[in-house]
Amino acid sequence: MTLKVRVHRFDPSVEQTAHFETFHIPIPFGEKWSVLDALDYIHFHLDSSLSYYRHSACTRGVCARCVAQVNGKAAILCEYLVPEHGEILLEPPPGKKVVKDLVGK
Ligand code: FES
Repeated sequence: MTLKVRVHRFDPSVEQTAHFETFHIPIPFGEKWSVLDALDYIHFHLDSSLSYYRHSACTRGVCARCVAQVNGKAAILCEYLVPEHGEILLEPPPGKKVVKDLVGK
C-alpha cells in the first residue's frame, strides 16, 4: 500500500514563500504507522533535509511537542495513525511562526 504525503516545505532563511512537496510512502500491509513514522521514513529514505519535531524520549503522546496539522487539523503526530493508502496533508502547527518545514515556535 502506498500513502501519498504532501508536506509543507519552507526555509525562511533562504526562501520567500512556502511550497508543498509530495512523497510516496510504502506502508507494509497490516502495519500501523503514525505520522511520525511516515516522517521518519521520508527523513531516512527520501529527503534528510525535512525538518519536523521528534522527541526521542517521548513518541508516546506525552510531551505534545510534535503537534502539527494533519489535513487542516492540529494533531499529535506520534499518536495520529495514517491510513495505509490515500493521501494526507501535513502543515506546521497552527498559530506558530515557521522555523523550517513542520517546525514552529
Ligand atoms: S513526541 Fe511527545 S507527544 Fe509526540
